[in-house]
Amino acid sequence: MNIMLAAREVRENAYAPYSRFKVGAAVRGASGAIYRGCNVENVAYPEGTCAEAGAIAAMIAAGETELVEVCVMAGGPAPVPPCGGCRQKLAEFGGPETPILLATLSGATLRTTIGELLPGRFGTDHLMRRDG
Ligand code: THU
Repeated sequence: MNIMLAAREVRENAYAPYSRFKVGAAVRGASGAIYRGCNVENVAYPEGTCAEAGAIAAMIAAGETELVEVCVMAGGPAPVPPCGGCRQKLAEFGGPETPILLATLSGATLRTTIGELLPGRFGTDHLMRRDG
């Protein structure tokens, strides 16, 4: 399965009545399987969740913990970057070199990596060196 097609398809199921901004995300686990997620908004706005979070949750629920590829699909003139919180979520399960493909419905693409999107990430090394 093509990861871009998966992200495009799942975007159709996005629940975005408030922003009207539909996002689809697909992540490939180390097994090669693809997991999908879309944004799910809520009338209590902060309770909404991003597409990336949904795709990661589907991967974890399936028993995989390593991301090897990510695609985020949205409408609009230019590819949409993951929000700050989703960058940290992606970094939990992928490495700095893990490729991220940002794409639009009309075919614009931007290739980046988790490390480019989140330099200086908070990681286990910081947590382990706590003091006091
Ligand atoms: N959104 C995502 O799903 N992923 C992103 O990376 C950026 C933003 C969603 C959240 C909200 O439902 C809508 O887009 C507008 O912010």
